[in-house]
Amino acid sequence: MITWRQGLLGLVLLALAGLLLAWSGLIGIGAGSGHWKITDLVLHWAMEQSVETAALSVEEPPELDEPRQIRRAAGHFEASCAFCHGSPLRGRPPLSDRMTPPPPPLTQSAEIWSAAELFVIVQQGVKFTGMPAWIAPERADEVWAMVSFLRVLPGMDAATYRDLAFGTGPPSEADADPVLANCARCHGFDGGTDGGAFPMIGGLPEAYLRDTLQAFANGTRQSGIMRFAAAGLTPDAIARVSAHYASQRPPAAPPGEELTAGLLAHGEKIATEGIPEERVPACGRCHADRPGRNPAFPELDGQAAWYLEEQLHLFKAGARGGGPYARLMAKVVPGLTPEDIEAVAAYYASLPATPQAAATR
Ligand code: HEC
Ligand code: HEC
Ligand code: HEC
Repeated sequence: MITWRQGLLGLVLLALAGLLLAWSGLIGIGAGSGHWKITDLVLHWAMEQSVETAALSVEEPPELDEPRQIRRAAGHFEASCAFCHGSPLRGRPPLSDRMTPPPPPLTQSAEIWSAAELFVIVQQGVKFTGMPAWIAPERADEVWAMVSFLRVLPGMDAATYRDLAFGTGPPSEADADPVLANCARCHGFDGGTDGGAFPMIGGLPEAYLRDTLQAFANGTRQSGIMRFAAAGLTPDAIARVSAHYASQRPPAAPPGEELTAGLLAHGEKIATEGIPEERVPACGRCHADRPGRNPAFPELDGQAAWYLEEQLHLFKAGARGGGPYARLMAKVVPGLTPEDIEAVAAYYASLPATPQAAATR
């Protein structure tokens, strides 16, 4: 019979032995030899349990798996995931097999994990493995777009992947500028929405484009996708691509869902008069295209409806951030209901994009 004293002594000795072993330096930390089978099993089991539990409180959004979500995430996958996980275009990256654990090719992940579990992995990352968390964790909508992409990745051929990750726009002389060529993978050279996957950036005021890229780069505007794309751009590169996109006139975004006249009328009323009893100012005071408008304020006419809606919900949740004037929007959004947001977004999206008055540039 072992007494509790002997048991305790045993535990202390075991702990000391462990400490001694670590102190001796005999435990290898080299990444090239992999884990022992048992370490691998235990760590992976712990990860599975943790992901399953966290996924219990995650709810799938209705837009999961929509083509524009898949396209929205594909270019970011190419830039920020494929160098570890590989892709249909580049196969298995050489460094991956020299990591412990090696980043798995994601060709089966959608069968192993449910959508909610993929969401947890991509949003939170995995400790002790090198798998990073999402850059802007508050952007659940971006993480869901990536989950949509991961769900179609298994079995995708190289040509489909190339179109999704690099776009299908025609090559142009702007190809010669590598910074612009990278923007164009997603935004095209004309800054259009590519079927509604991206916001319309062609024709936005140049000052707003510059402020916005700066805000993405330093994280004062939250987006995992755009922070990655804008980080490290020199002031010169920001000025160059801003001037390029400000001068573009892309075709209109495709219309969203069916619009009723009532919805549009409600949206127009908010845009032109605001909602005085809820202290919502008329949007047009700052956003209408007229001479003398502050060139750092964005144009909303002709912008994609889903994007306007998403941005307004983000402002409401305090998760949008932005450039030096973004705090103005914090006073606008508290009085807007989800119905108001849907209406005003639909209204602005239904307007033709107006070329900026030269005076406001
Ligand atoms: C620095 C390398 C690295 C980068 C970059 C990286 N990952 Fe990972 N990822 C890993 C590693 C390592 C694992 C394995 C974790 C484990 O086995 O516990 C992993 C696991 C995963 C898994 C679970 C796979 C499975 O089948 O179990 C998914 C899904 C995933 N990553 C998606 C992504 C996405 C999406 C991105 C880009 C936003 C990304 N990863 C970026 C290293 C990386
Ligand atoms: C991997 C795809 C991708 C790349 C590359 C990319 N963008 Fe974006 N961009 C996006 C997405 C997605 C959004 C929407 C962000 C959000 O939802 O907050 C966006 C948003 C923007 C916005 C904000 C529009 C607005 O109305 O406020 C600007 C400006 C912009 N991008 C410019 C650029 C420029 C310039 C480059 C090149 C330096 C670039 N982007 C590279 C995907 C990309
Ligand atoms: C007092 C001025 C002001 C008023 C009034 C105002 N806005 Fe804004 N809004 C701004 C500024 C400034 C920004 C740019 C923030 C940033 O990104 O730096 C902005 C950004 C936005 C954006 C994001 C656009 C994009 O391309 O990302 C949306 C959507 C928006 N406003 C909608 C509205 C709506 C709807 C109303 C009316 C209910 C409204 N705004 C009223 C100043 C205003």
